[in-house]
This record gives sequence, structure tokens and C-alpha cells, in this order.
Amino acid sequence: MKLLVTGGAGFIGSNFLLYWLKYHPNDQIINLDKLTYAGNLANLASISSPTYSFIQGDICDVKLVSEIMDGVDTVVHFAAESHVDRSIVDPPVFLRTNIIGTQVLLDAALRKKVKRFHHISTDEVFGSLEIESKEKFRESTPYNPRSPYAASKAAADYMVRVYCITYGLPVTITNCSNNFGPFQHPEKLIPLAITNILEGKKIPVYGDGRYVRDWLYVEDHCRAIDQVLRNGKIGETYCVGGMTKDITNLEVVKKILSLMDKDDSWIEYVKDRPGHDRRYAMDFRKIEKEFGWKPEHDFETWLGKTVEWYKENTSWWKKVKKGEFQDYYRKQYKQ
Ligand code: NAD
Ligand code: TYD
Repeated sequence: MKLLVTGGAGFIGSNFLLYWLKYHPNDQIINLDKLTYAGNLANLASISSPTYSFIQGDICDVKLVSEIMDGVDTVVHFAAESHVDRSIVDPPVFLRTNIIGTQVLLDAALRKKVKRFHHISTDEVFGSLEIESKEKFRESTPYNPRSPYAASKAAADYMVRVYCITYGLPVTITNCSNNFGPFQHPEKLIPLAITNILEGKKIPVYGDGRYVRDWLYVEDHCRAIDQVLRNGKIGETYCVGGMTKDITNLEVVKKILSLMDKDDSWIEYVKDRPGHDRRYAMDFRKIEKEFGWKPEHDFETWLGKTVEWYKENTSWWKKVKKGEFQDYYRKQYKQ
């Protein structure tokens, strides 16, 4: 099988490539990635497989995408602008990559008769749940995006479905909750908290810290995508997540502090994110019922292993935190 993976130099994409080469070593893989600030070839340094190749390029580049799509059986589409805070400051690049880029890929996949287009999406398209409610997102939950990032992903999801309904492109979609694990950019909460402590800096917590995310270890996400690629029904969406039980950001940060032998004085409450979604929770019963998928990596153990990974890979995150990130951090966290 020939796979085109987009955004394979990012956090989840690189974990997926490492996973795929381990379990499907005979597949041919092309990784198309623009290498934005979030793309990092160091994530893939351990790959030596002759069946893997990397192309630096933009998913919005119609000619390049059309050339690369030749002979591709399956597209796994991760490439995106992925950070909510950056989307609030600069929406246009989110619309370009996440919507236009997805449409360019869909169009080429249709023309080249790709057998499966799998689109990676997020639970953020569903909006925000009440803090005390027991409600969860499921495949039938109406979309209600509340940030430019979520709106751009929702629009992309709609386009993916439209290409299936209108033109017959064989698509599947997974909407996943917040991932954590190795190679996550330190702009995101968990790696930011760990690396700030390692640098002797406080952890910025937005607002009252009573915001709830549904955390999933990245390898569980990769396994869910594998299941959907092998067994998923064309045109279907699968919700992935459901590992943590309503844990607040404050509790996540306190767990990290405890793993790193630090007290609560390392927490710094900062200005809240505008339109901050209060709570996400995933109902993963569909993918569990159909394929037996469920989260396998428990939060406590794998948060601890993630802390260890960042401790052992200081040169990886120190490079990422240099340059552009310094300007971003100063602007984002100025009080
Ligand atoms: P990331 O920001 O770490 O990586 C994105 C990758 O896409 C980078 O390598 C970047 O260089 C590449 N890219 C960006 N624009 C591009 C373009 N125009 N052309 C080609 N490549 C481009 O993101 P991530 O956290 O790994 O997320 C991957 C996907 O998973 C995204 O679609 C995101 O919406 C989705 N998702 C993420 C999470 C999460 O918790 N991180 C949860 C659910 C879904
Ligand atoms: P983030 O990792 O940016 O993921 P997302 O916004 O996609 O859920 O943020 C996770 C949660 O942590 C979210 O509620 C915002 C909060 N947060 C902070 O409190 N401080 C921070 O510095 C960051 C980056 C996030």
C-alpha cells in the first residue's frame, strides 16, 4: 500500500509515522510537510526505512499535491495549523491551510482515484460543554465551533463529507480529544508546563484553571486511526478519546508539579483565553462497539512517562523554544 501522510513532521503526524512503520513496515510512505514553526524533522530522525520518503511542501500547492498523489492508495491528513491561541491572533493562515489545503488534497485525491482519504479532526468542532454536566460529545453532536481554529477544522470536516456525498470520494473522519506525549510542541499546555519547570519558570494557567480537557496518550490516537483505516465504513465519523474523567487544567498542572517535586507556588494565574471552551468530553462507544478500540494508556502513568521524555530530550525542546517561540511567548503571556 502507498500512503500519503500530510503534516508528518508535527506532533501527532510524527508519532503516527513511527507507529505505522513499526506495525506496517512494508508500506510505502510519503510524508508531505511544509515545515512551519510546528514541523520538526528531528521527530523523525530515528527512521531509516527505505520505504519512507519526505517532501517539503505546502498542501495548498495544487501542482505539487497533484504530482505527489499519483499512485497513492490512502491519504492520512494531519497537516494543519493547530494552536487555538495562535488562531485568535492570526486567523487567515488557519483558513488557508485547514480549509483550502484540505480542499486541494480532496480534489487531487478524487482525480487520482485514491481508495481512502482519512481526515484527522478534533473534538473542538463540537464547542463547549457545561462544567458540571455529564454530557459528552458524540458523532451526532451538532457542530458549534467557538475559535478560529475550531471553525477552520469544522469547515474542513464539512468539505471532506461533501467530497464523499457529492463526488463519491471514499472518506473517513476521526474527531479526537486533546493528545499528549513525546514531540508535542511546547506551546501546548502539558509540554509548556513541563519545560517551563525545567527552565525554572512558572506555569501560566488561564483564568480560574477550572477548564476540562479529555486527555489521550498519542499512541492510542494512532491505534484508533489504524483501526479506522482498516475497518472504518466509508463516509463515517468516529469520536476518539475518553480516557480522563473530567480533570481540570489546574489538576493536570498540579500532577505535573508533583511528578517534578515542586509545589503550587510554581503556578501563575494569567489572563484567560477569549471564548475559552469550558469542558470537552468524548463518548467513544461507536469505535469501541465497532472495532473494540478503547484508550489503553492511563493518564497518571503516561503523564509521568511524558515528563521523563521531556527531561531526557532537553536539546529537542530547547531548540524549539528558541527564536520565534520567544517572541510568541512574550506577546502571548504579557500581563
Ligand atoms: P502540529 O501543529 O504539531 O503539526 C502540524 C504539522 O502540519 C506540522 O508539521 C506543520 O509543519 C504541518 N503543516 C502546517 N501547515 C502546512 C501546510 N500548509 N502544508 C503542509 N504541512 C503543513 O499539530 P498536531 O498537534 O500534530 O495535530 C495534527 C492534526 O491533528 C491536526 O489536523 C489537528 O487539528 C488534529 N488534532 C490535534 C489534536 C491535539 O491534541 N494536538 C487533537 C485532535 C486533533
Ligand atoms: P492547549 O494545550 O492549548 O489545547 P486546546 O486549547 O486545544 O485544548 O490548552 C489546553 C488547556 O489548557 C486549555 O483549556 C487552555 C489551557 N492553557 C492554559 O491554561 N495555559 C496555557 O499556557 C496554555 C497553552 C493552555
